[in-house]
Amino acid sequence: MDILIVGSGGREHAIAQSVAKSARAGKIYCAPGNAGISRVAECVPIGAMEFEKLVSFAKEKKIGLVIVGMDDPLVGGLVDELEAAGIRTFGPRKNAAILEGSKAFSKDLMKKYHIPTAAYETFDDAEEALRYLETADYPIVLKADGLALGKGVLICSTPEEAQDGVRTIMEDKKFGDAGNRMVIEEFMTGREVSVLSFVDGRTIQIMSSAQDHKRAGDNDTGLNTGGMGTFSPSPFYTEEIDDYCRKYIYQATVDAMAQEGRPFQGVIFFGLMLTEKGPKVLEYNARFGDPEAQVVLPRMKNDILEVMEACIDGRLDEIKLEFEDNAAVCVVLASEGYPLHYEKGFAITGLERFEKEEGYYCFHAGTKFDENGTLVTNGGRVLGITAKGADLKKARENAYSATEWVQFGNKYMRRDIGNTIMEL
Ligand code: AMP
Ligand code: GLY
Repeated sequence: MDILIVGSGGREHAIAQSVAKSARAGKIYCAPGNAGISRVAECVPIGAMEFEKLVSFAKEKKIGLVIVGMDDPLVGGLVDELEAAGIRTFGPRKNAAILEGSKAFSKDLMKKYHIPTAAYETFDDAEEALRYLETADYPIVLKADGLALGKGVLICSTPEEAQDGVRTIMEDKKFGDAGNRMVIEEFMTGREVSVLSFVDGRTIQIMSSAQDHKRAGDNDTGLNTGGMGTFSPSPFYTEEIDDYCRKYIYQATVDAMAQEGRPFQGVIFFGLMLTEKGPKVLEYNARFGDPEAQVVLPRMKNDILEVMEACIDGRLDEIKLEFEDNAAVCVVLASEGYPLHYEKGFAITGLERFEKEEGYYCFHAGTKFDENGTLVTNGGRVLGITAKGADLKKARENAYSATEWVQFGNKYMRRDIGNTIMEL
């Protein structure tokens, strides 16, 4: 069966590598892909939002399964268009991807079905939001309703900061139409955990947990980014917490979506905060996390295509997900200046070693081949260096040593990925 993967980041590279290991995989294509993905798949120059072209390509190549990795095409309804053309697709339809696409929708869903989350209010009008802030408790969290590249969340310590935030989101439209509506919610404290799951509309199967590091600088300083590094599993995600989430969050979410006439098929990513009062949902995503996929998928023992097909066919209950009894750490190598201003086009060297060493992975995010065929940097997040180890400490040591194999101009990384696990 030939496969088309839609997306171009480190997550799609991790998906492509898992697909390439599958006994069911024929030829693998990726649209648009990147330089690293081109080692395992044929990259085709079609953007993830070019729905018509993607549908024609999939029809022409008689693609057996399309895997949509990114949030924008999912929320925009690419799955519906592919299905309408008779193409099997892994990922939620538009009416289910709204779980990620609208924070107001997901908060209302959680409230209606009693799924634990932060207390909140939704606003369509800036004046009303500003009035609400006069009597609110601080810090407080402002969220643009729609997709904003993971940047539409503002944590405000004072009423003044929050008022500025409302204007930024709703009046200056810093996040575009994503800010036509906003959610204002209670600030929660605790450790964050990312839990990814496969869902077939009815049944949910949980993958091994992970933790992301979202801020650009060491010790969680600096701006929010797409993610600077991850580890899996999270030692803070205990069996007790898992039991609680299975009881009150995971199946409840899947059932709520089905009840609403929006059956969810694909990956639900639960962003959880482990608060003193128990785990609460920070956010839902309708796809694999990036860079969570880079530490979770290399540890998965199952054939990924078998699991994805079971999701599409509604027989996920027949599958038992299995993960290696080890750990993985991913350190993102970024361009100095990310997430704001950075230079691109620097030659990247030293990647050969990843081909030779078992348990080490170099997932490409922002890379390309220039006109001379040289591999160069082409984005803020450039590479995700992942290594496995017997435990988290060993995996962390391995990942950091592998970051030294790679050279490129303006290479930047956080030095403290997984430091919290060192305390244990
Ligand atoms: P989100 O895109 O909703 O995951 O938010 C991005 C980041 O903002 C999260 O990973 C948290 O670190 C933080 N955040 C979001 N909502 C809250 C909240 N209610 N309380 C504290 N931090 C939050
Ligand atoms: N790493 C967070 C995300 O993929 O949204």
